[in-house]
Amino acid sequence: MAYSDKVIDHYENPRNVGVLDKDAQDVGTGMVGAPACGDVMKLQIKVGADGVIEDAKFKTYGCGSAIASSSLLTEWVKGKTLAEAGEIKNTQIAEELALPPVKIHCSVLAEDAIKAAIANYQEKHQGKHQGRHQDQ
Ligand code: FES
Ligand code: FES
Repeated sequence: MAYSDKVIDHYENPRNVGVLDKDAQDVGTGMVGAPACGDVMKLQIKVGADGVIEDAKFKTYGCGSAIASSSLLTEWVKGKTLAEAGEIKNTQIAEELALPPVKIHCSVLAEDAIKAAIANYQEKHQGKHQGRHQDQ
């Protein structure tokens, strides 16, 4: 299969590989798996007080397209609000990377991962006023 130059570039030089502290209040973690192939993607965001994503990191155990999709996504979400990041569609990722049809689910994994990371961040902040993290 012929991969696009962009896939190969992100695969060989992945941006933002790493981990953030999943227990930090300003970090959201999304971990998703692809039923189609068993690959796993972990994506984390660090959110500023203004609701803007300041940092993003990923670790992907999977194919080159999944690594490229998550690498691209971490670049895209930095500087975006949670709402904006939540609107990113896998089709935009697939288009940017010119993924072939058989690799579309790799970009779906990235969309699922950012949505899961946002949900995790929001859960932490709903819990905030329910006693566990009460200010003294
Ligand atoms: Fe094996 Fe994606 S199917 S790495
Ligand atoms: Fe399964 Fe890419 S994530 S083949």
